[in-house]
Formats: sequence, structure tokens, C-alpha cells
Amino acid sequence: MTTTREGADRLQKMPPYLFAQIEEKIAAMKGEGIDVISLGIGDPDMPSPARVITSLAAAAADPSTHQYPSNRGRLSFRQAVAQFYDRRFGVSLDPADQIVPALGAKEAVANLNLAFLNPGDVALSADPGYPVYTTGPILAGAEAYPMPLLPERGFQPDLDAIPADVARQAKIMWLNYPNNPTGAVIEDDFFARVVAFAKKHDVIVIHDNAYSELTYDGYVAPSFLETPGAIDVGLEVFSLSKPWNMTGWRVGAVVGNAELASIYWQLKTNLDSGMFEAVQEAGATALCDCDKLVEQMRGVYLRRRNTLCEALTAIGLDVTPPKGTIYVWAPVPDGHDSRSFTEQVLEEAHVVISPGSAFGAAGEGFIRMSLTLEDERLNEAAERIAKLVG
Ligand SMILES: Cc1ncc(COP(=O)(O)O)c(C=O)c1O
Repeated sequence: MTTTREGADRLQKMPPYLFAQIEEKIAAMKGEGIDVISLGIGDPDMPSPARVITSLAAAAADPSTHQYPSNRGRLSFRQAVAQFYDRRFGVSLDPADQIVPALGAKEAVANLNLAFLNPGDVALSADPGYPVYTTGPILAGAEAYPMPLLPERGFQPDLDAIPADVARQAKIMWLNYPNNPTGAVIEDDFFARVVAFAKKHDVIVIHDNAYSELTYDGYVAPSFLETPGAIDVGLEVFSLSKPWNMTGWRVGAVVGNAELASIYWQLKTNLDSGMFEAVQEAGATALCDCDKLVEQMRGVYLRRRNTLCEALTAIGLDVTPPKGTIYVWAPVPDGHDSRSFTEQVLEEAHVVISPGSAFGAAGEGFIRMSLTLEDERLNEAAERIAKLVG
């Protein structure tokens, strides 16, 4: 039990949020006048689309957007999400009950755990994975059972390795492809096997689709909801943050099974008062009217991916260029673990990279580097690391 001023017990169970710690370290170093290059957090460095900003300005000037929004969302936003899913994935969603706006994917991931998990339940969480797949279940009083994503299995969890008693207790499964942090994509029947598993064990599948629009080398990412039967077992979390350079706007959506979406909606009516309607209008513009910008962003990240991967390969790191996301995932050099290597790189090269272990135990032995910096700085980061490794 904690004392009055320590915060609730559930907060004491949270591991420290890695990126908050990294931000503090960077601020301290910058305060000392050090030129720190951060390949830590995946926060796009380019501006949001001009059309989206114009749309926001117009919508903000319209008094109809000024009152409390509804958690159901503005119809125009829900229609824009439906049109996008139809155009992009061939998935038909009913704006009436299969789409709920989310204040970014992070909010959705955290709250979907609260919406579905009771104390004693289990969430099957990708490891390594976005940290909220683990902290969300803990906040709900439940348990996160790690599903290791290993390179030899293409960073897909081994569904047959999930013990029968865990599968029995499991209520939700967290997946994310294109995958943060590994950059892995789905090119086989994995999603079909997930649907079969979910039906057999009565598990809700929640696919976090934050990166489907950022893929390379001709690969086009599917939505989980394209898989036959997926709509019966699950939901997908979609976010405008990364492809449209809109991390600051907090725009996303939870889509899929109507019954499950309404449970998320029910929770949210108790927690927040929805998304500013002017932001919803701007989000609709992004989804309907900014394909060219997203295409350009794919080109930018492809070039940066190649720059960084070539530089890292040249200094002897064993890097596989990812077909998706804005991250490069690489094994640490011999003689290091992921934390010792990232600490040395920060202290001596003044480059911030993320230790794989921060994304889960199975991420040990790897580092993650984000591509949200100009080529020049990526090259400089690689040169600084080369001096350490070489
Ligand atoms: C897999 C994954 N899900 C969710 C998020 C959060 O995105 P948002 O900005 O939409 O909250 C991120 C951000 O890095 C992510 O990598």
C-alpha cells in the first residue's frame, strides 16, 4: 500500500517510461551545450500537410465546432475513415457503429485494456512491443503475457507456443504490423492463423495499425480487417500520427467489430469528452485529400532508411533494411547488451538510440533507431557510432 502522496498502487507497478527518461537526459546534455543527435523517439520531423492546417483554421472559425464534441465523433470524420479504409484496404466499415474516434493510438491502446480486462485476466502482448501493450493491462489490474517476437520467425509470435492455460485466461491479444520496434511486416497467412486462434480460444484481437502507410520496396501493408473472419474477432487501432506528420494533433480511430467498438465508446464516455471537432475536420482532410504527401513521406523515409542501413552495415552492424515503419532494428555489437551499448553511445558519441530491452525482454540484444532526422544528421550519427565501434 502506498501513502497518500505516493500515488496509487497501480502507478507503482509501472516501469519507468523509457522515453521520458531519455528526454530528461537529452535536456541535461543540451543544457551543457552538447550537440546531441536523437534517434530515440519516432516523432516525424516534418510539418503537417498545409491542407490539413488550412482545414483546421476554417473549421476552428466555425462556431459549430466549439462545443463539447460527442464521443461518437463527427459524422464527416467517421465517413472519412470509412472511405479511407474502403479505398486503401477494400474494407467496408459502417460509420454508424464500426468507427470511434481516438485521441491518438496511445489513448486507444491504454483504454482498450481498461475496456476489456478484469483483474486476473491476461493480455497476450507482443514482446518486443509498444510499451503500452504491457503497461495498459497492468493499469487494468490484469497481466500481460509476453509473446516473443524472434528474428528466426520473422518477428511473428509462435501461437502454438502459448500454453493452454494462458490461452484460456487470455481475453485480448495485442499485435502490430508493420511492427514497432522490429520493422517486420506480414507477408504470409499469419493474420488468418491469428483469426483461427482467436475463434478457438475466444480471444479479442486488437491490431495496432499505426504504420500501414509507411512501407518500402513495393510492399503494401494490409489491414488486419482484410482477413476473412477478422471483423468477428477484433478491432484495429488506426492513427494519423506518423504518415501525415501529425503526432501533435492526437487523431486516430478504433475500427472494426461493432459490439467491441461500442464497449470502447462506453468506456470513453466516462473518461474524456471526445476530440475537438475542428481537429476531426482536419483529420478528415488528411484522410481524403493528402495521398501525395504520404507518398512523399514514403520516399523520404526510404532514402533515410537506406542512408542509415548502409552506414551501419559499413561499420560492421548486421542490419536488415525494414520494409515498413520508421525504425531500424539491429543487433548490438558483440560484448554489449542493449543498455550498455545505448548508454555508451549516448555518453561518448552523444547519439540517442533506444535499447531493445525497453520494448520487452525479447528485445534484449537489439537497438532501435528512428528515421525522423535529416540524412545529414543520420550520417553524422552513424559516423559518431563508427568511431566507438571501430
Ligand atoms: C505501435 C505504436 N502504436 C501506437 C503509437 C502511438 O501513436 P499515437 O501518436 O497515435 O498515439 C505508436 C507511437 O510510436 C506506436 O509505435
